[in-house]
Amino acid sequence: MINEIIESRRSIRKFKTDPIPADVIERIMESAIWAPSAMNRQVWKFFVLTGEMRDRLALLHNTILEGMEEKIRERYGEEGVAIRRNLYTNFAGAPVAVVCFTELQDPENPHSDIVSVALASENLVLQAHSMGVGALTMTSSRTVKDEISFLCGLDSNKMELVMVILLGYPDEAPEPSARRKKRVIYASEPGDIKN
Ligand SMILES: Cc1cc2nc3c(=O)[nH]c(=O)nc-3n(C[C@H](O)[C@H](O)[C@H](O)COP(=O)(O)O)c2cc1C
Repeated sequence: MINEIIESRRSIRKFKTDPIPADVIERIMESAIWAPSAMNRQVWKFFVLTGEMRDRLALLHNTILEGMEEKIRERYGEEGVAIRRNLYTNFAGAPVAVVCFTELQDPENPHSDIVSVALASENLVLQAHSMGVGALTMTSSRTVKDEISFLCGLDSNKMELVMVILLGYPDEAPEPSARRKKRVIYASEPGDIKN
C-alpha cells in the first residue's frame, strides 16, 4: 500500500557506498518525471551524477556546514553536527547525487515551477524508498548554487537550483521524527476554524 511506503520513508544521512544498478536509477527517474506540473510545463531538469561528477559536486558542499554549524548545534547537538560534517564532506558515502533544477520561464513568478520540481522530487524519493534505496533531499546545497550550475553547464539566470537529492543504500535505520499536531484542519463551516 502506498501509505506504508510514505510512512516508512526516512531521511538517510549514512549510506553504503555500493553502486545503484543503472536500471534501478532509471526506474526512479522515470517516476520523477511522471509528476504533475504547472500547466504541464515539465520544467524540471535532473542531472544524475555518479563517479567523478558526484565527487566534484560533493567537494562543492565542503564549505556549507561552516555557515550553519551553530544553528545545527542548537537544534541537534554535537551528534547532529558530526552527522552533517560527514554529509557535507563526502555526501555520507552516497554513490549518486541528483541535482534538481527548474527552468525560470517567468523569473518574477517562480512559485509554480519550483512546486512542480518539488512534487517530482517526492515521486523520486518515494520510488527510491520502495526499491530499498535511501534518499536525502537537501536545499542547503543552494548556498553554492552558482557553482553547482556551472558544474552542470547551466546559466544560473535561466535555471534555478531547487535541491540536491542523495541516493544510496541505507546504512542506518532512523526512528521516525514526531509529526506536529493540529497541522490539519477539517472545516465544513466557518465555526470549525479554530487556529
Ligand atoms: C525542502 C527540504 C529541504 C531539506 N534540506 C536538508 C538539508 O539541507 N540537509 C539535511 O540534512 N536535511 C535536509 N532535509 C531533510 C529534513 O531535515 C527531514 O526531512 C526532516 O528532518 C524530517 O525527517 P524525515 O525526512 O526522516 O521524516 C530537507 C528536507 C526538505 C523537505
